[in-house]
Amino acid sequence: MKILVTGGAGYIGSHMVRTLGEKGNHDIVVYDNLSTGHRDSLLCGRLTVGDLADAAALDELFRAEKFDAVMHFATNIVVDESVREPVKYYRNNFVNTLNLIAACTRHKVNRFIFSSTAAVYGIPEAVPVTEDAPLLPINPYGSSKMMVELALRDVSLSSDLRHVALRYFNVAGADSAFRIGQKYKDATHLITVSLRTALGLREQLKVFGTDYDTPDGTCIRDYIHVDDLVEAHVLALEYLSEGNKSRVFNCGYGHGYSVREVVDKVKQVTGVDFRVNETARRAGDPPSLIADSSRIRNELGWMPAYDDLEYIIRTAWQWEKKLHGAK
Ligand code: UFG
Repeated sequence: MKILVTGGAGYIGSHMVRTLGEKGNHDIVVYDNLSTGHRDSLLCGRLTVGDLADAAALDELFRAEKFDAVMHFATNIVVDESVREPVKYYRNNFVNTLNLIAACTRHKVNRFIFSSTAAVYGIPEAVPVTEDAPLLPINPYGSSKMMVELALRDVSLSSDLRHVALRYFNVAGADSAFRIGQKYKDATHLITVSLRTALGLREQLKVFGTDYDTPDGTCIRDYIHVDDLVEAHVLALEYLSEGNKSRVFNCGYGHGYSVREVVDKVKQVTGVDFRVNETARRAGDPPSLIADSSRIRNELGWMPAYDDLEYIIRTAWQWEKKLHGAK
């Protein structure tokens, strides 16, 4: 298949490109503006540097390449930044994605896999949350992703396009051979920030809020290894290729860890007792997000292989040490 991977030079996209390359038989084209992605994160595939805002460039690419499927990873992902800069999120995550969807319908590309997020649920009434729960995002990041889901739903009803929206929970960890991993300079994600604190690159780890209605007062998240998430995309592509209808799936393991539990595990894995400072809540954080993942397990046969917080942290730790030249 000829597959377009937008954002393929980014964290999750580069793991996807690696796996598509290893599975062989695919011609992989990456479209990335390199705003947060890196050329050297591409273990295979052909890179076109470009922006989804550039509808003419997209049109040209689609005309030249004749894709069979699109996997759309290119996106801004930082929840509290989205609260401060909503226009950036609506523009990049929603408006620019419409350019991509329009290119698909114009050029008759009818398989589309979309990186959605658990943030579309907002503060779910019940956890684990199922895909049928109402979409009530509490931050612009989640809203921008929800808007894409709605657009895809409507476009799928009015054209041949079929899509799978995968609602990611908290993605972490790195390639088992540590060739690729998260590279954001200004990382905000809990595991990455904790590891960089353990490396001495940051003075302290701030715990954002200890007064949530959770057992230890800190937020709970469902951390999923990036390679299990990538496998979900492989299955989603097979699902669409078999002619199945558009569908939404949660991608998480079905259980969660509090911020304090993650920090303790990072200290244990790294052997470093770094400084932790309990501070006020961060804007836009729901107290608890845990996936009900029965749909993807039952319908796509997804069988996660790395449901182990220690493994997730260990792979991320090896990667961080390599990235920062530490022993
Ligand atoms: N946290 C801290 N200190 C930090 C960083 C994070 O206490 O330095 C806390 C946050 O407040 C939150 C938890 O750790 O309670 C996880 O925060 P992350 O920033 O690691 O991730 P988020 O849950 O905010 O968001 C991530 C992705 C989103 C996705 C969401 C789904 O970035 O794309 O998971 O659960 F929508």
